[in-house]
Amino acid sequence: MSKLRIGIIGTGKKQKASRFGYAMAYQHANAYKLIPECEIAACADIVEENARAFAGAYGAKMIFTDYRKMLAEAKPDMVSICTWMHLHERMALDAIDAGVKAIHCEKPMADTWAGAKRMAAAAKAKGVQLTFNHQRRYGAPFAMAKKMLDDGAIGTLQRLECGAGNLYDTGTHFVDMFSFFNHETPGKWVLAQIDYRQENFVFGSHNENQNVALIEYANGVFGLVMMGAPGGENPVGCVDKLIGTDGVIEIGVANKGPALRYRRAGDKEWTAADTKGESIHGPGFIERALADVVVCLREGRKCQLDASNALIVTEIIFGAYESSRRRGRVDFPLNIEDNPLAAMVESGALKPAPDLEGRARK
Ligand SMILES: NC(=O)c1ccc[n+]([C@@H]2O[C@H](COP(=O)([O-])OP(=O)(O)OC[C@H]3O[C@@H](n4cnc5c(N)ncnc54)[C@H](O)[C@@H]3O)[C@@H](O)[C@H]2O)c1
Repeated sequence: MSKLRIGIIGTGKKQKASRFGYAMAYQHANAYKLIPECEIAACADIVEENARAFAGAYGAKMIFTDYRKMLAEAKPDMVSICTWMHLHERMALDAIDAGVKAIHCEKPMADTWAGAKRMAAAAKAKGVQLTFNHQRRYGAPFAMAKKMLDDGAIGTLQRLECGAGNLYDTGTHFVDMFSFFNHETPGKWVLAQIDYRQENFVFGSHNENQNVALIEYANGVFGLVMMGAPGGENPVGCVDKLIGTDGVIEIGVANKGPALRYRRAGDKEWTAADTKGESIHGPGFIERALADVVVCLREGRKCQLDASNALIVTEIIFGAYESSRRRGRVDFPLNIEDNPLAAMVESGALKPAPDLEGRARK
């Protein structure tokens, strides 16, 4: 079988990970290295020394500072987009136009609701596999919780709760978990409020300081996202809580609690489950995610990280910001184009105080 030639867009720079740089490309590359049919053929970064260092680490023979040139000259079969979110849409559309077979893009999908829909539509129209790196789906605490839920351990699912520090950047992982547990069911409506008093740029985009969002899904299951004031307690007490008619499952229990525990109706105590050393962050999630992405591409199967699933999540996130802007419930389908949080800052409707670290937006 001929090798799948991978091109990486946005190599990043290996450094201490922060909200201003994680170098996710290195994590993608580590995962590709474990897949025998993949070969990292080319990479592009506007900072040449980043691209050179990355190419040296992974043996990429073609190095570019212009990703469009990489698409035209290296002609990769598949690209990983590892840049900040305001660049995802343009890069995905260019890769689709250049004729790639598959794109694995970092989360969140895009910086506007219209942009997310354009990416998904263009990929669908050209038969390109477009996936997003919602890697928690491949983590033991999450997968084991889903298996317990699907096996009926807590009865019928009624409500999902999570404590997400923000709705957009990390929130996309949290709302994606709701989709994972709730069989990719679309939202019916969302009612939300946010507080944004202190600028909080994460990978160049605004993220609120505090949130609460109630979602009703089309199957009647509710989702509730809540976060306490920055530096305070997470009111959910864990990362994810699954509430069924006959019990509760908790993932990532606060204050160094277990990665997974459950309590069935009638149980006096919680039971911790053995996640074999995996926390909510890994290890191994991205490796398994990319292995699945490549198998799905080879077999022509829809991957659970597919854009159509990511759209369900993105509609809820931008819908929650829209609910805050409208001061009311937002029924789906979401009929806006923009990112309401960014728009509210631009219009002056929200006036967060300057970022204390004084970091520029982009
Ligand atoms: N899946 C996860 O758990 C997870 C964790 C952290 C970050 N992320 C996401 O990963 C994405 C990337 O974040 P990061 O922290 O890895 O970024 P980073 O800053 O470490 O790397 C991005 C790179 O893109 C390059 N770049 C910028 N413009 C470019 C262009 N036009 N062409 C080519 N290269 C360009 C920059 O020079 C930089 O080297 C973000 O969307 C972020 O939300 C995901």
